[in-house]
Amino acid sequence: MKFIIDDADIEKIRELYATFAVDGVTTNPTILAKSGKQPFEVLKEIRDFIGPEAELHVQVVAADAEGMLEEAHRIRKELGINTYVKVPTTKEGLKAMKALKKDGTNVTATAIYTQMQAYLAGKAGADYAAPYVNRIDNLGANGVKTAKDIHDIFKKNGLKTEVLAASFKNSQQVLELCQYGIGASTISPDVIEGLIKNDSVTMAVSAFVKDFEELCGTGRTMKDCR
Ligand code: G3P
Repeated sequence: MKFIIDDADIEKIRELYATFAVDGVTTNPTILAKSGKQPFEVLKEIRDFIGPEAELHVQVVAADAEGMLEEAHRIRKELGINTYVKVPTTKEGLKAMKALKKDGTNVTATAIYTQMQAYLAGKAGADYAAPYVNRIDNLGANGVKTAKDIHDIFKKNGLKTEVLAASFKNSQQVLELCQYGIGASTISPDVIEGLIKNDSVTMAVSAFVKDFEELCGTGRTMKDCR
């Protein structure tokens, strides 16, 4: 499962890249708005930092396919070919996806709440389909199960599209999809931090340090003990 950051805060992205093995960055219009910067200003900063080969996902906002295609061409021109154009999985979005795949653009089908939307995006040639796990949970359905179903639909129908699960709110949702072997998950910085936060681990490590210092002296490590 690829591990992707769902955020546009360049400082947070730098911090997370320093610690975790990250495969790319996803954004959406809400995330861009939170950055407080103009879209291409912040997106170019992210692209410069992650490098030309890394995945960067950028969403279109037009309601019609023609407008989506115009946005997609600009996104690709400004941010490079390894940019995935996120297209909402509406009727117009499906039309745009088909056209974008014809000219070799990377496409992420987004705003997916149902298995059928994902299947149709897969048929349209999308590289990724992004089910919104927690938002589906909030509707009283099961977001993790929906993402697993979509993974199975792609495999059983011989579609190359991979699941890029999004909208996580806790570690359990991420873990279940990791165990299932889906293609990718994009996760917000706070949920990423939660993946490794564990008081028992902190206490265990502190106890080891305390015991070592009692043996060798305060501040000593394996670097400078006898
Ligand atoms: O881009 C989709 C995803 O980022 C939505 O996440 O947390 O707004 O439900 P959230």
